[in-house]
Amino acid sequence: MFKKITLIYGDGIGPEVTKQSEKVLNTVAELFGHQFEYQRALLGAEAIDATGAALPEDTVEKALNSDAVLFGAVGHPKYDNDPNAKVRPEQGILGIRKALQLFANIRPLTTHKSLKHLSPLKPGPTNEKIDLVIYRELTSGIYFGEKQTAEDGSWAADTCKYTAEEIERIARLAFKAAGNRRKKLTLIDKANVLDTSRLWRKIVQQLATEYPDINTDYMFVDNAAMQMILNPAQFDVILTENMFGDIISDEASVLGGSLGLMPSASIGAKTALFEPIHGSYPQAAGKDIANPIGSILSAAMMLDHFEMHDEAALVREACTWTLANGFVTKDIAPINFYFTSTVGDLICDYLQGRIVDSVKQDNIELRKSTII
Ligand code: IPM
Ligand code: MN
Repeated sequence: MFKKITLIYGDGIGPEVTKQSEKVLNTVAELFGHQFEYQRALLGAEAIDATGAALPEDTVEKALNSDAVLFGAVGHPKYDNDPNAKVRPEQGILGIRKALQLFANIRPLTTHKSLKHLSPLKPGPTNEKIDLVIYRELTSGIYFGEKQTAEDGSWAADTCKYTAEEIERIARLAFKAAGNRRKKLTLIDKANVLDTSRLWRKIVQQLATEYPDINTDYMFVDNAAMQMILNPAQFDVILTENMFGDIISDEASVLGGSLGLMPSASIGAKTALFEPIHGSYPQAAGKDIANPIGSILSAAMMLDHFEMHDEAALVREACTWTLANGFVTKDIAPINFYFTSTVGDLICDYLQGRIVDSVKQDNIELRKSTII
């Protein structure tokens, strides 16, 4: 199969993690006889430095003319600490989500046995095995509503608005996903306070009658934040609006052991975009220590999107293999860690079948895979 992929490295650790995914995709292409053609585009602080805009026209054009976008990360401390900055890196990712109409952000979380000790939760039946997926609305709500700041700076306002259509299109995807999983859907909202949440609830209640085999559940977001800690195993598909989804998914991500592991797919009108949920982690940029798994699993979601399911499954298996055998980055093993690029190399070795069962950790040197 031929696919055109736009690579957006972005800021901070974006380039180094995305390069590992590129290696993995190239290995998959070679093994399965696919052809992936890449084009690079700029977004975020890197784009502001180069062009003055967080989302150059050229980036949108390239993205629209490709089958998928693989994105790294966005954000730079020089803007975080300057509330007066007119142009902000984050406008780049928000802008491309809008431009590509990526209304559904899909964030799966599964726990790995080998990383159990990293969970901030005490081990028990409520977190023994977590397997959930968050469907976060991505192109509306308070992120995109009207914004105002008083000229004298004495007040500011952000508006949260949703249309029935915006809710219905993502809700349908979430119901379908639940049908292919454990058949449970939880809508997270704040319907005891917010009009927008009451609209979400109304639409989801109506749709629930069309999906009678799905057990549909409703939860206020404050309670959901608590339930995510008390009993995360209860969740299957979570459906929620933009900002609640942003917050709940960061909370959920640490239950898997590291924020660096969690991938995401954003789908919408045409071109889909794939990105790890972690940020640009500027303190680690250029040090080859960031976790590439979030990006590589995002690339696996891209392969699934291309209907390359065997390829995606193999990439996931390779990631699990590195995690199970301690070939992990510093966020997971602060002392005995492997470099970003080594983990990427090992995953490629695994894909190529170059890892044999008898291989022991001693045979793999730091930084460089010695397996032949
Ligand atoms: C995410 C990020 C973004 C968001 C930021 C960088 C704008 O936190 O993708 O979760 O809030 O959506
Ligand atoms: Mn976020």
